[in-house]
Amino acid sequence: MTSLLGKDLVGLERLTREQITAILDTAEPFKEVSERPIKKVPALRGKTIVNLFFEASTRTRISFEFAEKRLSADTVNVQSAGSSVSKGETLVDTARNLEAMRIDMVVIRHGASGAASFLGDRIRSNVINAGDGKHEHPTQGLLDLLTLRDRFGSLEGLKVCIVGDVLHSRVARSNIWGLRHMGAEVGVCGPATLVPRDIEALGVTVFRRVEEAIQWADALNVLRLQLERMQGGFIPSLREYNRVFGITTEKLTRAPKDLLILHPGPMNRGVEIDSDVADGEHSVILPQVTNGVAVRMAVLYLLAGGAPDWATSGADK
Ligand code: CP
Repeated sequence: MTSLLGKDLVGLERLTREQITAILDTAEPFKEVSERPIKKVPALRGKTIVNLFFEASTRTRISFEFAEKRLSADTVNVQSAGSSVSKGETLVDTARNLEAMRIDMVVIRHGASGAASFLGDRIRSNVINAGDGKHEHPTQGLLDLLTLRDRFGSLEGLKVCIVGDVLHSRVARSNIWGLRHMGAEVGVCGPATLVPRDIEALGVTVFRRVEEAIQWADALNVLRLQLERMQGGFIPSLREYNRVFGITTEKLTRAPKDLLILHPGPMNRGVEIDSDVADGEHSVILPQVTNGVAVRMAVLYLLAGGAPDWATSGADK
């Protein structure tokens, strides 16, 4: 079945504004499904989906599984530990063996940039990138867009600054592509060691001081310091980082307006964001997680060939 999104969702870079709008619009009625006493619709009944997670995840893995189950798909979870990957089986061999069991879709998280695209080119099933190395995390980008659209009504002209460890962040890249496609202005801010040198080529403004970013932005998307991807030398100390780049109430009180605060999680409280900001009235960190289920339902449904007018098509019954 031909999908509005093509065969795979590898990133937001190659999506059009119309495709992103269709995903966000399709997510809207799926939000309501999660509020029902019986959180299930038959949209993907009979489909089999494998969640292949080769890196740790809480939000993405669990919300994909909820999304699949709420659409009535049959799901199987595979992690590298406990599978034959730990004996040296390749990614493609693993996926081809799963395909031999007649699966329909693979959701993959992998430490290597390009892993989702590599797999999508080699198997028949739809592939959804749940985060590949430093490349992209498209469903995180989409749920961020949906959360911003919920609060601001439109993304056109919105000023969003991504603050923190941009260098190691697939979330940053998906946000930049998605926000730019939707007409938003994007800033990035972080230590020079954690902002790629050529990032302006993506159409973003670089802020060296977080105080300047706070003056400019409507919303801050605060990124986790990915300490597991750093071999030292990127920042002098966590305390120093918090003092200079950490998002604190004290810094936000100097903003000309209330800024919406996003964070993809997991958070290093007291490092890139203080607890009173993370838990404060302008934080949408938990609504982001709620929107993640609806966005993933929309992506799964559209990739399976569903029409964007799911709610009015009678497929809800
Ligand atoms: N935002 C995100 O990808 O979180 P997890 O690593 O917990 O999935």
